[in-house]
Amino acid sequence: MTARSPYEILGEDGIGKLVDAFYDAMDEMPQAARVRAMHKENLDEVRDKLKDYLTGWMGGPPLYHRKTGTVCLTDPHDPYWIGPRERDQWLLCMDEALERISASDELKNMLKEPMYRIADTVRNRQSSSERDEDPNIIAVG
Ligand code: HEM
Repeated sequence: MTARSPYEILGEDGIGKLVDAFYDAMDEMPQAARVRAMHKENLDEVRDKLKDYLTGWMGGPPLYHRKTGTVCLTDPHDPYWIGPRERDQWLLCMDEALERISASDELKNMLKEPMYRIADTVRNRQSSSERDEDPNIIAVG
């Protein structure tokens, strides 16, 4: 049996539903408030961009690359402080989105590691911005 790619399993329609469920979850879940606050109030543009990105990343046509000439995620995330906590909030929304679209266990298992890896690649800080608010850290200077 030939392994199917996530794109073949979901199709363009399924990827659209996944991304919509992802940003809906980010909008609604108090546990994702920190990551939600980084985004613009209107999520329409980033919804479209993530749909394009994931279409290529999941094995479909490289829509994001065609439009931007790159698949590098470092530059667009550069302005934001993304530590382990922010990464984990993002991944929590993705887990929730997979639940909301009733993704199969096959798909969830297929995505688990690569999704963690790409989110950890986007992480650009060792610590989370919350450490600034941690009363246990002694301010110096
Ligand atoms: C690890 C945690 C992550 C955080 C906190 C984060 C946060 C953000 C923020 C704040 C934006 C700007 C949105 C806006 O303009 O309203 C953005 C854009 C974007 N993010 Fe993420 N992101 C994360 C991970 C990822 C991952 C893993 C992917 C891909 C699988 C991704 C794909 C994108 C794309 C495609 C854009 C649009 C970039 C562009 O303007 O071309 N992000 N992200």
